[in-house]
Amino acid sequence: MIRPVTRRQLLRAGGAGAVGVGLAGVAGCSTLSTSGVSTPQSFEVPLPIPPVEHGRMTGGLRTFALRAQEGTWQFRPGQGPSTPPASTWGFNGPYGGPTLRANVGDRVAIEVRNDLPESTTTHWHGMHLPAEMDGGPHQMIAAGDMWRAEWRIDQAPCSLWYHPHPHGRTERHVYRGLAGMFWLDDPEDPVAEQLPHTYGVDDIPVVIADKSFDDSGELIIDDGGNEVGFLGDLVTANGVAGARFDVTSELVRLRILNASTARTYSLGLADRQVQMIASDGGMLRAPVRLDRVRLSPAERAEILVRMEPGEELMLHSFEPDLGDVAVPFAVGANDSFDVLRLVADQTLSPSSAAPKQLAEFGLDPGGAAVRREFRLAGRQINGRRMDMSRIDTTVTVDTTEIWTAINDDVFPHNFHVHDVQFEVLSVDGAEPGPELRGRKDTVYLEPGKPVELLMRFTDYTDAQIPYMYHCHLLRHEDEGLMAQFVVVAPGEEADPSMIAGQAHGRH
Ligand code: C2O
Ligand code: CU
Repeated sequence: MIRPVTRRQLLRAGGAGAVGVGLAGVAGCSTLSTSGVSTPQSFEVPLPIPPVEHGRMTGGLRTFALRAQEGTWQFRPGQGPSTPPASTWGFNGPYGGPTLRANVGDRVAIEVRNDLPESTTTHWHGMHLPAEMDGGPHQMIAAGDMWRAEWRIDQAPCSLWYHPHPHGRTERHVYRGLAGMFWLDDPEDPVAEQLPHTYGVDDIPVVIADKSFDDSGELIIDDGGNEVGFLGDLVTANGVAGARFDVTSELVRLRILNASTARTYSLGLADRQVQMIASDGGMLRAPVRLDRVRLSPAERAEILVRMEPGEELMLHSFEPDLGDVAVPFAVGANDSFDVLRLVADQTLSPSSAAPKQLAEFGLDPGGAAVRREFRLAGRQINGRRMDMSRIDTTVTVDTTEIWTAINDDVFPHNFHVHDVQFEVLSVDGAEPGPELRGRKDTVYLEPGKPVELLMRFTDYTDAQIPYMYHCHLLRHEDEGLMAQFVVVAPGEEADPSMIAGQAHGRH
């Protein structure tokens, strides 16, 4: 397999903008790659389905055990003779992690054991929970130690995920493989029954991540300082390139997570639209038909694909519209490639059509008592780089707020807020597209276009332990594009005494 490292060499050579085409091309590929992404020779590897974990129920508490560990993993099975496995990290296995499932209303406990050679954390991305259980950079787990988080699941059913969050090292930890999905179910929701819901059969986790390998087959992440962060030249689904999934029902539900550290995808099918039913934090109000689903790092989308018996489809990532970026090819905007082949059986079990109404929700923008503005530029938010010992923002519990996030650069950023699911009120002053009208925790920021987010902070107050908000392009986050907020009781003030004296910058 050819490794098209040309883009990096071009960037290093200062050739930005000079060359936009002809960067790659692999003999015998099924799609012409216009980019720094190579196409696998075939899509015949069965899509690995991460094991599902429901935890252990004792006395009304659902307890999960996770172990972060080292291992080796074959990302390119069957793609040529000389592809040795790579050294990887994973939860309860060599790479990735089990899909955790809990019910809305459950009390859950998660015991995380760190058997890695260095400290890490485990963050429950998109979860509404107390700050001390969040698994952010203040909840470090030393090598050899165990950390226990416990909270009550109190939010809409949705597809969340979990990953490390050690300040300055998140990109490397996630890239090596520490990422799994965390699905929340509501057994009483009639809509759930009417959607495909058999795990691994018609309800499929699809974790997309891009990787690069050195000549000995090990993962490489040092890309010579690309502004956007790491862009791999091989795109994997659930850890393998060239994956194929055999569809056995008329309708298949893909719960897609972009677990990449920097790459944004624009997913779709060549000849038809997909039906999107859910975004980061739960179901949309109604299904929407879309040509493409843009997913920046950490965003999720659930889509339904209807197939005919014997039919084949390719889930493809088209050139993503990243907005008005200065050097499109250098940030992945010219990349298009295949991701996952869907092959339908000759006989398919019948699936009912998706319900017309999926969920009801909505905060009242008129109830917003506070407005804040966050400008992302370089590695700073509002002119300040992340400082572990500083609380940047203090929010009063039971307050609805409007946060405006603005990308002041000419390259991509996105914006993620811990603890809440927000609604996108506007993008550059206009109504957001239908795919953004759900509950979200992460949103892409096109250069120069303010994005207004409506959110409400409830339940948990802690004046001392902060939650994070940050760019989820992980190199940006690691290098300081992150800040901290606390949620306090009315009249209470932030108290940084506990985090005072913590390391400021990168490790
Ligand atoms: Cu997915 Cu602050 O993280
Ligand atoms: Cu960024």
